[in-house]
Amino acid sequence: MPYKLGTMLDISNKVQDESRQGEAYAPLTEQIRQFDKKFYIESYGCQMNFSDSEIIASILENQGFGATRNMEEADLIFLNTCSIREKAEQTVRKRLSEFKHLKRSNPSLLIGMLGCMAERLKTKLLEEERLVDIVVGPDAYRSLPDLIGQADEGQKAVNVLLSREETYADIAPVRLNSNGITAFVSIMRGCNNMCSFCVVPFTRGRERSRDAFSIIAECADLVANGYKEVTLLGQNVDSYYWRNPETEEDVTFARLLEMVASISPQLRVRFSTSHPKDITDDVLHTMAAHENICRYIHLPVQSGSTRVLQLMNRTYTREWYLAKVKRIREIMPDCGISSDIIAGFCTETEDDHRDTLDVMEQSAYDFSYMFMYSERPGTLAAKRYADDIPAEIKKRRLEEIVSMQNRLSLESNKKDIGITCKVLIEGNSKKSAQHWMGRNSQNKVVVFPKEGDFKPGDYVLVKVNDCTQGTLLGTLI
Ligand code: SAH
Ligand code: SF4
Ligand code: F3S
Repeated sequence: MPYKLGTMLDISNKVQDESRQGEAYAPLTEQIRQFDKKFYIESYGCQMNFSDSEIIASILENQGFGATRNMEEADLIFLNTCSIREKAEQTVRKRLSEFKHLKRSNPSLLIGMLGCMAERLKTKLLEEERLVDIVVGPDAYRSLPDLIGQADEGQKAVNVLLSREETYADIAPVRLNSNGITAFVSIMRGCNNMCSFCVVPFTRGRERSRDAFSIIAECADLVANGYKEVTLLGQNVDSYYWRNPETEEDVTFARLLEMVASISPQLRVRFSTSHPKDITDDVLHTMAAHENICRYIHLPVQSGSTRVLQLMNRTYTREWYLAKVKRIREIMPDCGISSDIIAGFCTETEDDHRDTLDVMEQSAYDFSYMFMYSERPGTLAAKRYADDIPAEIKKRRLEEIVSMQNRLSLESNKKDIGITCKVLIEGNSKKSAQHWMGRNSQNKVVVFPKEGDFKPGDYVLVKVNDCTQGTLLGTLI
C-alpha cells in the first residue's frame, strides 16, 4: 500500500479533497512492537475521522492489536466512514465489496464499519452489507474491545450510542502515517449548529469541548517528540468552551489558542473549522499577537445569497459574512482565507448563484473546497425543501465556481511573487526529490530547490519568485 508522508489537506483547488481518502495506514511503532493480532484501517471523510482513527489505534493497541498496512495479513479490517455526501457513502460501499475475497480466504476475518456512516445507518448497515460484522459510531470506540469479543463469538456487534460527554480526552492517540512534524489534535466533538443540508449533527451528536489541560498536555507531548505544528480540530472551533472546575476559569477558544501557542515559539498552531457567526475579535487579536499562530482561517461561506443562507440555516447574511472577512483583513492584513461552497442548494436561482461568485471574488479566497449539493436523509433540508436543481445545472454552477476559484488562487499566488516567507519543511516535493515542500503561515504550499543542510521539520526563509495556481515556487535565502 502507498505510504504517504506528510499528506495533509492539499492546497490545490479541488472539487473535493481526495488526497487522503481511503489511505491505509499504520504507525511507525509497527516496526518496533510485536503484536499477536493485526488490524488494518482506512479513513474517509474529514480530519476528525483521521484523528479518530488515531484514537481507535490507541484503544486497539492496548488490546494487543498492532496496525498493519497490509490488509492480507489483517485479523480485523476497519473502514472509518463518512456520510457527508451520497458519493462518500458510495465510495465506502464499493471499497467494502472489494474485501469479499479476503473474507472468503480467511473466514475468521472480522470487518467493522466505524464513523459517520455507521452512526447514520446503525443496524441497517448489517442488513444491507452482509460482509459487516461490527458497527460502531463515533462516540462508542471505547467499546471496541467488547464488540470485537462478541464478533469473535460469531454474533453481529453494534454500538452506535452518542454521548454528551465523550471526548476521549485521556486517550493518547497513536500517530498514524505521521511525518513526525505535523499533527491533528481534537479539541471538541459534535456540532450544535443545524445547517439544514448537513448530516454531521446527526452522526456526531451534541457539541462538547475537551478538557483544556488534556489538550495542552497532548500538544506539549508532541513538541517533546519533535513535532512542529498542531492543527486544533472541531466542527466549530470558535464555540470551544471549557470551565476549569478548580479555578472556575473560563477557557474560550481565544484563551485555548493562547495557551497552546505559549507551549513553544517553535510550535506552529493552526485550527479548523471556523463558523463565520462564532469567530470573535478576541480570536483575531490573539492570532495577531502570536507569531506562531498561523495567519490562516478556513471560513466556509456555503452560499453568497442571503436568501439561500437563510434556508441553509447558517444564521448570517451575505453582508455580515463580508464584514467578517473585512474585519479579519483589518486585524491581520496578511491573513489567508479559504472557504467551502455548495452549488445548487434547494431553490437556488441564477441570481443566487451569481451572488456566490460575487462573494468569492470580494473575499478573494486563496482556495476553496467546492461541492454539488447532495441531499442527506433526515436533515432539515431533506424534510423541508425539494432537491429541485437538476444535476446538470448543479454541475455547470459548480464548474463556474471552480473556475472562479482557480482564477482567485492564481491571482492570490501572483501577489506573493517577490515576498519572503517563513516555511516549515514537511518533506520532498511531490514532483522532485531535489526540491523541498513546505507551507507558509498562510497555509500555501511552497516548493524550492534543496540547498544547504536542512531537513524536514526545519523552518527556513524562502523568497518567492514564481507560482502556479496551487503552489508558490521559490529559493532559499
Ligand atoms: N463544520 C464545518 C464543515 C463540515 S462538512 C463547517 O461548518 O464549515 C464540510 C463541508 O461539506 C461543509 O462546509 C459543506 O460545504 C459541505 N457539505 C456538508 N453537507 C453537504 C451536503 N449535503 N451536500 C454538499 N456539501 C455538503
Ligand atoms: Fe455541519 Fe453546519 Fe455543523 Fe458545519 S457547522 S458540521 S456544516 S451543521
Ligand atoms: Fe464526514 Fe463525519 Fe467528517 S460525515 S465530513 S466524517 S464528521
